[in-house]
Amino acid sequence: MKRIGILTSGGDAPGMNAAIRAVTKTAIHHGLEVMGIRYGFAGLVAGDFVPLTAEDVDHTINQGGTFLYSARYPEFAQENVQKKGAEQLRKHGIDAVIVIGGDGSYHGALALTRLGINSVGLPGTIDNDIPYTEYTIGYDSACRTAMDAIDKIRDTASSHHRVFIVNVMGRECGDIAMRVGVASGADAIVVPERDYDIKKIAKTLKQGFADGKDHGLVVLAEGVMSADDFRKELLKYGDFDARANVLGHMQRGGSPTVADRVNATKMGNYAVNLLLDGKGGLAVGMENGKLNTHDILDLFDGKHEGDYSLLDVNEEMTKD
Ligand code: F6P
Repeated sequence: MKRIGILTSGGDAPGMNAAIRAVTKTAIHHGLEVMGIRYGFAGLVAGDFVPLTAEDVDHTINQGGTFLYSARYPEFAQENVQKKGAEQLRKHGIDAVIVIGGDGSYHGALALTRLGINSVGLPGTIDNDIPYTEYTIGYDSACRTAMDAIDKIRDTASSHHRVFIVNVMGRECGDIAMRVGVASGADAIVVPERDYDIKKIAKTLKQGFADGKDHGLVVLAEGVMSADDFRKELLKYGDFDARANVLGHMQRGGSPTVADRVNATKMGNYAVNLLLDGKGGLAVGMENGKLNTHDILDLFDGKHEGDYSLLDVNEEMTKD
């Protein structure tokens, strides 16, 4: 192996740059050349490659987004498109690829491995929804951003004695909502993985105001329903003033947290070492704080298990 490629795919996530940096510096340390592939799998097929030096990745560890740019490219599910991608890699003398991205990116990494280009996937998405890993690059930063925003929302909620329903990202996964909900002191956390009782939530919020609380907060995962639909439903059971808020794409931006920088660095370094050992078709994950690998194929049947005990903690702190 002489030259490796690296790309970021799907929704960007804070910490992706830290991972690119770690891959580049580790590979160069081992005498390898590194090619950055721009715009994810779309750029791979188009041959949009840029050589990366150690200096190119200086001053990137603290930057949000991905300086290699990203794209959603469902076309890469087609075999003829995958073959074009593999041809581009061969043409540019690239022997192996590291893919940083969410679920869809793993299909691409596996396809390349099957076409003879060893590829390793790193979990890069704010959603924390990938099977067999407790952590994805960007999750911690997105939680911090959402928490900071909710702290501000609480100020205005309190001033007006209002309830806020704050919709956070996560696609079908409730991990961001659970962690941010607890960190923000939410009265209720609503996620797709658990049933909820909207009458009970309305009762809790009403009781809060009756007991002298000056605001109410519901953290709602986007996979459940829109904040506005939830508000309308909630108001059928409560006579308080309520507003819906969608945090949206701001959750994907900003400088990565310490955890995201460090974990992305460890994962990037680990991925290069896997390729040096001749391994491919693997997904890097984390369990109890330790890095691990799983066959990418296993991920397709697996289910991400979040820390649902956080919901129990919140529930047990709610007045009946
Ligand atoms: O996967 C990351 C994510 O930000 C999800 O939380 C969200 O549902 C989706 O991407 C938004 O996608 P887009 O950037 O295409 O609007």
